[in-house]
Amino acid sequence: MSKLVSPSILSADFGNLNREIRMLDSSAADWIHLDIMDGVFVPNISFGLPVVRAVSKLAVKPLDVHLMIVNPEKYLEKFCGAGASILTVQYEACTHLHGTVQQIRSLGMKAGVALNPHTPVSSVENIIGDIDLLLVMSVNPGFGGQKFIPKSLDKIRQAKELIARTESGALIEVDGGISIENAGEIYSAGADVLVAGNAVFSAESPADYIEKLKLI
Ligand code: DX5
Ligand code: ZN
Repeated sequence: MSKLVSPSILSADFGNLNREIRMLDSSAADWIHLDIMDGVFVPNISFGLPVVRAVSKLAVKPLDVHLMIVNPEKYLEKFCGAGASILTVQYEACTHLHGTVQQIRSLGMKAGVALNPHTPVSSVENIIGDIDLLLVMSVNPGFGGQKFIPKSLDKIRQAKELIARTESGALIEVDGGISIENAGEIYSAGADVLVAGNAVFSAESPADYIEKLKLI
């Protein structure tokens, strides 16, 4: 089991992006999580390609890009060109998920699939062998700072079981409502990568907070 941390810059200070990215690069963070919201798939708009490009120019660490958008297949090349290393699409937004995942990989990126809280783990049974990352959403996507849905722990255990049974190499990433209070039980349930936005960026020292998440 890996124990990775991918801080979400959704809660960062966008007026000081340069400083925030330098802080993440010199912190214990493994990846940098970027939440792309289109106001259609989710009831909120965040930021798009120009910001990903800017972060990619500043950052040394891999960009973990989470697309909460409809028709993500239209933008795979663009996000690749903007600097994404890991590109995750929402299961619910993809009619031809297999093709989309193949395309992400053929562009040279790692392919992730995210499951909304209502989507069962069994939905990805036929694709788990073709992906690099399974993202279990532990809040309804759209906003930072929400409360972790406890039922997500069962889904993480089911995902772990599916990955073991199918000998898939996929990592389990968990996203939403994560803090040092619940990180231990989330890792214990089988998570490999924790995303944290609000908890990290509202901490007095985000870098120390990331370090604490890594040491749990
Ligand atoms: C939610 C996003 C998350 C979010 C996590 O729609 O996908 O990545 O930023 O933020 P916190 O840690 O604040 O719940
Ligand atoms: Zn996210």
